Amino acid sequence: MQKAYRAAILRFAPDGSAQYEEDGLLVTGPDAAGRQTVLAAGPYRALAAQFPRAPVEALPGRILAPGFVDMHIHYPQTDIIGAPAEGLLPWLETYTFPHESRFSDPAYAAEVATFFIDELVRNGVTTALTFATSHPQSVDALFAQAQRRQMRLITGKVLQDRHSPDGVRDRTEQSLQDTESLIRKWHGVDRLGYAITPRFAPTSTEAQLRGAGELAAQYPSTWIQSHVAENLGEIAWARELFPHSRSYLAVYDDFGLMRERAVYAHCIHFDDEDRALMRARRTVAAVSPTSNLFLGSGFFDYAGADRVGFGYGLASDVGGGTSFSPLRTMLAAYYVGREGQTKPGLSLSPQQLWWQHTAGAARALGLEGVVGNLQPGCEADFVVLDPAATPLLARRTRQASSLDELLFALIVLGDDRLVERTVIAGAPQPRS
Ligand code: GUN
Ligand code: ZN
Repeated sequence: MQKAYRAAILRFAPDGSAQYEEDGLLVTGPDAAGRQTVLAAGPYRALAAQFPRAPVEALPGRILAPGFVDMHIHYPQTDIIGAPAEGLLPWLETYTFPHESRFSDPAYAAEVATFFIDELVRNGVTTALTFATSHPQSVDALFAQAQRRQMRLITGKVLQDRHSPDGVRDRTEQSLQDTESLIRKWHGVDRLGYAITPRFAPTSTEAQLRGAGELAAQYPSTWIQSHVAENLGEIAWARELFPHSRSYLAVYDDFGLMRERAVYAHCIHFDDEDRALMRARRTVAAVSPTSNLFLGSGFFDYAGADRVGFGYGLASDVGGGTSFSPLRTMLAAYYVGREGQTKPGLSLSPQQLWWQHTAGAARALGLEGVVGNLQPGCEADFVVLDPAATPLLARRTRQASSLDELLFALIVLGDDRLVERTVIAGAPQPRS
């Protein structure tokens, strides 16, 4: 069944620039393989006659935009958002590890997974790369909920066999067997993908990292996710534990954990050799500005990343991050980009920010042309935005005289209230 929507449409050209249609038509329907995809997007006048059989829903005043892509988030940390600590390591010890130990209980994991997916949907996030915990049942719980919504979601069992308390520490051999079983059970089923997930180098033995790298070579279409160069204390600890590696990032390379589809959160305290290594391995960064500001970790160096040329996209990093809303993350990224500016200027443009949380994030995940855009062939994951969702939004967006002004107003003033509807694989999602 085809379906068409008449509204403004925001999408992205291959070079990352935004394309905006004031009076657009988005036509969705099954492709040859039966997947719900975008069949056409463009000016209403040009397209309406080409799809006479598609029923048209008119959405006056609304904007259709790609579903957001969150490149790094922890579903088990939903309940510890906003837990303050001096920095990363005390935060992990005081709040994170004790809380994550609760996910050995499958009923608890299922309850949090349900809430988490609802919250992503309410915020317009339709694709996420998320950490689970070290308990295999936490992975089953999340995949089951995502599958129920036919959502594109990637997750994996956390590997952490040392420097971790009872309750979250796993055992080397068993952890690798569990990882392989979960890959076979879930990777490529419907829209689900598996990510091999060493928590970060300090909490894995060399044997565990080596085993993770072997699995990454054996299953090249899986993702890899971890953390790197987030916090100065963490970096000093990693250097002490792995004195033979050139840098903290190089530890992962030394164990075969840098390749395409490898996604490292933070990547703040890098030198140019680290940046060149990211580029050479086609490994990407999940930039997590609300988390970095909240935990006092530092500022992602956008200029450095662009100078050397490695890929990146945006991420919430809940619960170190402070919001599920991509609008809040984009605003924090704007602040961070400004901080790094050595010359006066606008820092990141709103079109760049939006791209980094949609088509750019999809490209970084190896999912360009699959999600994160509304070009023909993309899967039909999108949001319906109401630029008049609050009195101030209505007033400000009415006065926007360019696309940049409109997008900036949405980023600065928007949150979950802006997202009127989230559509996943062509299906409007019930909202909690
Ligand atoms: N490094 C290792 N584990 C974590 C985590 O859960 N959150 C963040 N922000 N950094 C980490
Ligand atoms: Zn994280």
